[in-house]
Amino acid sequence: MDKQLDKLNKLEDKRQLETINLIASENYVSPAIREAMSSRLTNKYSEGYPGARYYPGNQYVDEVETLAQKEALKTFNLKNSTWGVNVQPYSGSPANFAVYAAVLEKNDTALGMALSSGGHLTHGFKVSHSGRFFNFFQYGVDKNGLLNYEEVENLAQKYKPRLIVCGASAYSRIINFIKLSKIAKKYNTLLMVDIAHIAGLVATGVHPSPFSAKSGQALADIVTTTTHKTLRGPRGAIIFGRAELMPAINKSIFPGHQGGPHNHQTLAIAQAFIEAQTPKFKQYTVQIIKNTKTLAKELQKLNFNIVSGGTDNHLFLLDLTNKGVSGGDAEKLLEKNNIIANRNTVPNDPRKPFDPSGIRIGTPACTTRGMKEKEMKKIAQLIDKALCGQDVKNEAKKLAMEFPTP
Ligand SMILES: Cc1ncc(COP(=O)(O)O)c(C=O)c1O
Repeated sequence: MDKQLDKLNKLEDKRQLETINLIASENYVSPAIREAMSSRLTNKYSEGYPGARYYPGNQYVDEVETLAQKEALKTFNLKNSTWGVNVQPYSGSPANFAVYAAVLEKNDTALGMALSSGGHLTHGFKVSHSGRFFNFFQYGVDKNGLLNYEEVENLAQKYKPRLIVCGASAYSRIINFIKLSKIAKKYNTLLMVDIAHIAGLVATGVHPSPFSAKSGQALADIVTTTTHKTLRGPRGAIIFGRAELMPAINKSIFPGHQGGPHNHQTLAIAQAFIEAQTPKFKQYTVQIIKNTKTLAKELQKLNFNIVSGGTDNHLFLLDLTNKGVSGGDAEKLLEKNNIIANRNTVPNDPRKPFDPSGIRIGTPACTTRGMKEKEMKKIAQLIDKALCGQDVKNEAKKLAMEFPTP
């Protein structure tokens, strides 16, 4: 590698090693996944799908993609007679847009969770192309910070959307897919669930499934997810759809949106699914929840306010209003002390999104490094001290380095 690039790459390794990472959407992949990402599959063009490519020389790529599809379905206990999967999306945002383009016409009406309530840009926010090309109405959370199912129903009744999108980037509670599916069925609309954040938790059953209820009742019609958050795979995304929707979804990905799939990424995604089916991964997700709950409780003891009063998953939002520090300043104070967490709006935030009132805290990355409840207690104290202006850089760095990155 070029000397300067090699230096930068090593500096980033060092930064990761020396930092306590609380960014809820980040994680550390296994050495096997890094190996797959640097494989020679990156050299290959394979526009099309297994068995129907526009380039020769794809006999092994076909097997890799077919295996990735099979392992994806197995990871979420899905039968390939009912569900199909596309493993080619480059990332979460293009995957979501490809779904909209597959099942909606331009300017069709849809519902999505507002960014300011914890939703994602691609769920119809006005500066995102999803909000430009489709007529999204946004629902949010109620006064307790809980997803407002009543508002979803009211909007569905009023606007008769063709699609309801749910899923979030900053929501700490279990999402009730049964309730959302009932609304979708009542108003005869498709239900798309974006499980980008909680995919790892859904895979092991520590968060309810959007695919079907325990009773066997069918829920979502389409499920999208990134592969690089709690699922702990490489950057990428996949789209699950009910079998009858898959031809339109596949066409929307290729040739609708993308050219050649990133085959090295597909190899790494297959590896991630194989890892996600192991008992060790289940233990990992159980520990994520224990860690998040512990960290939230310890911060509450230190007089921090948590949006919705707690957490059921891998993240929570701290509302810093009572601490007299903005989200932006908190992010900087933490970073100065080798703790990384991103600023975030809180519901009904009186401040501007660029410097909002909150900070988002997640434990998937620290849990991958082997941290447990004991370390969460310590991290709560470090956060408290850092936000009071104390210097805890060396303490934070020492703690991080006791748990090497994989
Ligand atoms: C719920 C949700 N959907 C989609 C995305 C977009 O994924 P990507 O950043 O891979 O485009 C994210 C990323 O943060 C997300 O949180």
